This record gives sequence, structure tokens and C-alpha cells, in this order.
Amino acid sequence: MKKLMIINGPNLNLLGTREPDIYGSLSLHEFLDTVKEKYPTVEIFHFQSNIEGELISKIQEVGFSFDGIILNAAAYTHTSVGIGDAVKAIKTPVVEVHISNTFAREEFRHQSYIAPNAKGVILGFGLQSYELAIQSFLSE
Ligand code: DQA
Repeated sequence: MKKLMIINGPNLNLLGTREPDIYGSLSLHEFLDTVKEKYPTVEIFHFQSNIEGELISKIQEVGFSFDGIILNAAAYTHTSVGIGDAVKAIKTPVVEVHISNTFAREEFRHQSYIAPNAKGVILGFGLQSYELAIQSFLSE
């Protein structure tokens, strides 16, 4: 069975209550439960942290053994050379995801330190962005 790791960065633990007009009203755990039920042929793991170094450590930890990483580094996407370097350093392919269309928002959200080393980027489809990323690994 393929092993996929969903990694969520800062403030995504507040999904459901945080700016619901942008990020929706489903909590992270409600969403993850549905997704795990919907894709029983893959093992889906999840990690969320508000701390940059913890995200880097998790990327390193799973980055040589998992089949795929689905990474929403949230605000660190736009600032973190360290997370970008971690994505470059590992073997596991990373799909960068965002709930919102970051290109339709403030200019500082147009920059990504992850995208140049990602397998692909999926953004703007709400929580469905994560599902599209999962599907991209299934169809390989
Ligand atoms: C986000 C977009 C980022 O710009 C923002 O900082 C987030 C969430 C998204 O999923 O749309 O926290 O990554």
C-alpha cells in the first residue's frame, strides 16, 4: 500500500474557524477522516505544526521512505528557504498544495520557496486541492 504524508504548516490547525470565507468551515480532523475513508487503498498520515523546524524535521523523516508528501506549508511557503531546501534534499516527491488561490491574493503570496523543487502545485480548489494531490499519486 502506498504511503502518503500530508504536512500542514502554521495556522492550519485552525481550519474551520479561521477566516471561513477563505478556508471553509470544515475542521482539519473532520476533513482528514473523510479523506481517509474515501481513499482506503492508500495509507494517509498527517502532521501539522506551527513551527518551521518541526516541519523540516518531518520532511526529512519521511522523505526517503514515503511514496509522496502533500505539503501545505501555509505562510512558510512564502518565506522559508529552509523548507525549500528540505524539499530539494529528499527523494520522496512533494506536491505543494494551497486551499486558496494564492495568486489571486496579496503579492507576497505569489512567491513560493517550495514550488521550484515540487513535483507539482495544486491551489485554489479549497480542501479539494488535497484530494487532487492524493489522486495525482494514485494514478502513477
Ligand atoms: C495557504 C495560503 C497561504 O498564503 C497562507 O499563509 C495560509 C494558507 C492556503 O492553503 O491557501 O496559511 O497556504
